[in-house]
Amino acid sequence: VTPVPLLLDCDPGHDDVMAILAAHRYGGLLAVTTVAGNAALEHTTRNALVTLELANASSVPVHAGAAGPLAGETRDATHVHGDTGLSGVEVPAPSSAPAGDDAASFIIEVARSTPDVWIVAVGPLTNIALALQREPALGQSIAGISIMGGGTFGNATPAAEFNIWADPEAADVVFRSGARIRLCGLDLTHQVLADAGFISSLERADTPLGRFTGAMLRHYAARIVELTGEDLAALHDPCAVLAVTHPEYFEFGYHSVHVELDGKHTRGMTVIDQRVPDTGLVEVAWGVDSDAILGLIRQSITSA
Ligand code: RIB
Ligand code: CA
Repeated sequence: VTPVPLLLDCDPGHDDVMAILAAHRYGGLLAVTTVAGNAALEHTTRNALVTLELANASSVPVHAGAAGPLAGETRDATHVHGDTGLSGVEVPAPSSAPAGDDAASFIIEVARSTPDVWIVAVGPLTNIALALQREPALGQSIAGISIMGGGTFGNATPAAEFNIWADPEAADVVFRSGARIRLCGLDLTHQVLADAGFISSLERADTPLGRFTGAMLRHYAARIVELTGEDLAALHDPCAVLAVTHPEYFEFGYHSVHVELDGKHTRGMTVIDQRVPDTGLVEVAWGVDSDAILGLIRQSITSA
């Protein structure tokens, strides 16, 4: 079976690292584009380069993109992911450099040359929105956009999930673009948790990649406990990859989704209409076979 062609837009970020590895293992990963989000663009770009090198995939090009949102102030999640975006591990200097610094134009180029590409977006949606603004037909020409973001509750605020909250205007452009959208929100990703046993299974792989991801997730899990008091180390981002490469492990509903831009308490919220089932266009993932997904994520590292 030919692997699904993927372009992964990300802001590594601990869980973004897991998304890069899953995309490389199970998809036809054409390229990675980076955006500011969890940490500043220089860090998210460096982390993407290093992750690909650790996975012996440095042939996959990385194009850096937006250093901040379309509008509003630049937000980050360094309180979770650290200033480098990958707290808990020493991030070596990458031996490769980004192939470009205009992710939006590169995304347009990839969409033109590979029309059945899925764009998987697991950071703020700034690069995707810029590409759609420059090339509105992009939304119809690609296979779809698989997004980690949103949900019926928030983590950045009570109402808004971080990726949407960090650039609500960009998310609004994407959700109104007419592109086919698959959405893994917090309702879904909070069902895919890296517990101590999972983390040890990565370290037992006893490879540079196993040691790196094990140490990285051990720190991430400890940080989440510190911040939330709960053992909720959700592997958010690989869900958006596996929802494209392994949709059989997910249950989808079809809803209209709007992004709130103005609410004093709700800016960045995804308003998912659940009143009449399956009357909308956005494929919202509500259920997942968590054990199967965790097994696939583990396998992308232990059998790398
Ligand atoms: O809310 C979770 C999302 O925010 C994930 O993409 C994580 O990497 C952070 O960017
Ligand atoms: Ca992310």
